[in-house]
Amino acid sequence: MLTRRSAIRLGALGGAGLLLSGGRAAAGTAPAVTPPAPFTVPLSVPPVLRPVRRTLTSDVYALTMKEADVEILPGVTTRVRGYGGLFPGPTIRARADRTTVVTHTNGLTVPASVHLHGGHTPSADDGQPMDMVMPGGRRTYTYPNQQVASTLWYHDHAHHTEAESVFLGLAGTYLLSDAWEDCLRLPSGDQDVVLMLRDVKLDEQGGIAFSMLDGSAERDILLVNGRPQPYMKVSGRKYRLRLLNSSNGRHYLLGLDNGDALTQIASDGGLLPAPVPATTVALSPGERVDVVVDFARYAEGTRLVLTNTDPEAVDRTRDVLRFDVGAPEPDDSLLPDRLRPLPALGAATVTRDVVLDFDPVSGDPTIDGKVYDPDRVDTQVAFGADEIWRVYNKDVTFRHNFHVHGVHFRVLDRDGTPVSGHEAGWKDTVAIPNGSTVRLQARFDRHTGRYLYHCHMLEHSSMGMMAQYEVLS
Ligand code: C2O
Ligand code: CU
Ligand code: CU
Repeated sequence: MLTRRSAIRLGALGGAGLLLSGGRAAAGTAPAVTPPAPFTVPLSVPPVLRPVRRTLTSDVYALTMKEADVEILPGVTTRVRGYGGLFPGPTIRARADRTTVVTHTNGLTVPASVHLHGGHTPSADDGQPMDMVMPGGRRTYTYPNQQVASTLWYHDHAHHTEAESVFLGLAGTYLLSDAWEDCLRLPSGDQDVVLMLRDVKLDEQGGIAFSMLDGSAERDILLVNGRPQPYMKVSGRKYRLRLLNSSNGRHYLLGLDNGDALTQIASDGGLLPAPVPATTVALSPGERVDVVVDFARYAEGTRLVLTNTDPEAVDRTRDVLRFDVGAPEPDDSLLPDRLRPLPALGAATVTRDVVLDFDPVSGDPTIDGKVYDPDRVDTQVAFGADEIWRVYNKDVTFRHNFHVHGVHFRVLDRDGTPVSGHEAGWKDTVAIPNGSTVRLQARFDRHTGRYLYHCHMLEHSSMGMMAQYEVLS
């Protein structure tokens, strides 16, 4: 019998044939619909959600999760699960120290739980896997936004089904700004653009084909903000691009096809101390990096391709998006040499080991040899403690990554080598290549209560590569 381990591996390796069908439609034998030629569809940008009410201290929103028919490929109708019926969901703009209140109504036929990824949210509103909003139900989540400006995102986290629901569309961005960031006068408005990257697999009717066993080889249509390999018209001026890897399992290695550097300015948890140019930027599932590109450097008519040179990228997943440079425009935005200092780390008082692996017998994805159990607390942390976690990916062939809810951490090193670029800033998700150990340090001084830590390759987390810590007062 095929174990789940070998099944997952088959999927990840592109082995065909074995299908646990989920989602809207089972894959048949007819060929799947094929995407258009690259760069023939314009980029679309998710709309910013309007509050239903603003008070002195808070912005109040309402969203309904529902199935909707959208056009992902031109002329092809695809049924999705969307926040507000949108694919991806609308962008929520939030302000540090103003409270965001979102009432989510579940208009789906499956339970849902809404998690704000990167939010320092009290445990009760963190969107725990068992804390589900049942079909027909509603739930109000309150986000204090007592944290610095950063690119966050919200997505489904319902027990066992987050991989499927996120794949079918339950994801959106949440952009937190603050006064410090305003003072820097970075590109803003139409020059501050969310780019949510993900892959998808469509069946012959254009439905989203979800299987727990699929990997990057099967999910071979690349989407940016829900459109296949789009082009983006830009003017000759600076842009802030917020790159978010919202893929279930795909890793990216992003760069420009002319070899010019992308200037990284922010990581998961906010601004870097200074801009860091890099010709390639790695992004594992759930990670964000904000970059600034000054298109004034290019002549009108220049076409630049954002490429993905990750080793798993083949054929049509190598090109992500094309920038079509238009006429130069006056630009009063800045790219300052200094962004926001990173505070010195405290002295850690606790060091822990965390092991990611597939169970050698059952094949289940595990943390410390155990499959996630919502009723079990795996780690107890004292409120305010500075801790170092050594996270080891014991698997010699498969990469994982690691996400911690409720706090941001700093990556000390990977296999003893300090990390650089966006990985050296505040993080909540970090790539853990096969056989590697990443040391990260966090201070657990935000809230008490239970939070998750897990691999953010969502097929892995929903099958159990997830655990729980509790911050004790
Ligand atoms: Cu992006 Cu447990 O979350
Ligand atoms: Cu999270
Ligand atoms: Cu994993």
